[in-house]
Amino acid sequence: MGSRKGEAGKRWREDVISVKAIKQGLHTKIFGSSITYFDQAGSANDEAKRIAEKAAGDGSVVVVGEQTSGRGRLGRQWYSPRGGVWMSIVLRPPSNRPLQKITLLSGLSVAETLRRLYRIDAVVKWPNDVLVKDKKICGALTEGSFRGDTPLFVIVGIGINANIGLENLPEELRHQTTSLKTLLHRKVSLNKLIRRLLTAMERNYELFINGKDKGLWLKYKRLCKTIGLEVRVESGEGEVYEGIAEGISPEGGLILRTKNGSELIILSGDCFHLRPKT
Ligand code: BTN
Repeated sequence: MGSRKGEAGKRWREDVISVKAIKQGLHTKIFGSSITYFDQAGSANDEAKRIAEKAAGDGSVVVVGEQTSGRGRLGRQWYSPRGGVWMSIVLRPPSNRPLQKITLLSGLSVAETLRRLYRIDAVVKWPNDVLVKDKKICGALTEGSFRGDTPLFVIVGIGINANIGLENLPEELRHQTTSLKTLLHRKVSLNKLIRRLLTAMERNYELFINGKDKGLWLKYKRLCKTIGLEVRVESGEGEVYEGIAEGISPEGGLILRTKNGSELIILSGDCFHLRPKT
């Protein structure tokens, strides 16, 4: 991919991340008003935490070219070679909103952005994985800092396998992972992808903090592949639950109907799609 005219009419090498290029044509109110770029760093979430502790404002963004200690959910490693979008956003949500839903909101924003930009059939797996053709293309890791029950800040870390060939990932991950490059047979503009994602995230986050998010969750449910399937959920504490995923609770948990007919609400965990409801 060479240089081409970006959305704002400027010429950039669009597969090379540039703060200037992201900001050209970014019409958000706060998301991305501060963007810090590291060519290489351990984890964008750690860098975002660092700036949040130094009072970085709501919507400050950290983007990393290559993460050397990328983290996934449930303590897993997250492979983050050059070519992906490894980005973390500092949020300062009010304490009266169900924070767990920020996790869902980030997956929804990515799925919407990928669908719009590339016309691909991106869906969400509860709580916030984004899948295309049943393979994971994006994961998100939400980490918070609290004083008592009051959130000081929340970091939303998003990892999108964008311009990455699957050969750059460990063999054991390849059969369950996909990337934009694999699906589209070309590289995409990382700057445009980041710009559009920040735009979607801000719109959805604003609706959420203002309590005007009913439509958001209807959209989430429409794009959530998990609902209606028989699933297994493994909680971080080693419990395993199986049943039919029936919906999303007001706090963002998964509503599960177990074999004996009881209803469970699982607030967090690793969800495996087993089979369609029988
Ligand atoms: C998962 O699906 O397990 C979550 C993956 C989250 C990866 C992103 S990349 C940016 C940020 N920095 C990290 O170390 N992790 C998140």
